Amino acid sequence: MEKIPSAEILSKSVKITVLNKLGKTIDEFDMRAGTNLWVFLRKRGLPIGAACSGVGVCGACHVKVISSDMNSISEKNDFEKETLIKNQKSEKERLACLCRVFSDIKIQADYW
Ligand code: FES
Repeated sequence: MEKIPSAEILSKSVKITVLNKLGKTIDEFDMRAGTNLWVFLRKRGLPIGAACSGVGVCGACHVKVISSDMNSISEKNDFEKETLIKNQKSEKERLACLCRVFSDIKIQADYW
């Protein structure tokens, strides 16, 4: 079961830096802590995979999360791990549709 972050954490805003495959910053924005990453990226207008409409089965929304803080993003559960394996994605990647963000992160995808 996912841990519920404190009200203090959820009241903050977090910075998301979007990197292209070469590591160049292509976008930077703030969002409310605890927000679903995939939902916000779509609202922002960034191209992100969505073949399963964000239910975590297609693997199309895979991104690499760069952060030194293990608690900056929701924990990867068994379902997400299975989807990454079934869709031949790296175990180091995350599915944006299954991630909630709690502190500043950088994200990178090979399709940006
Ligand atoms: S949109 Fe399909 S796994 Fe995220």
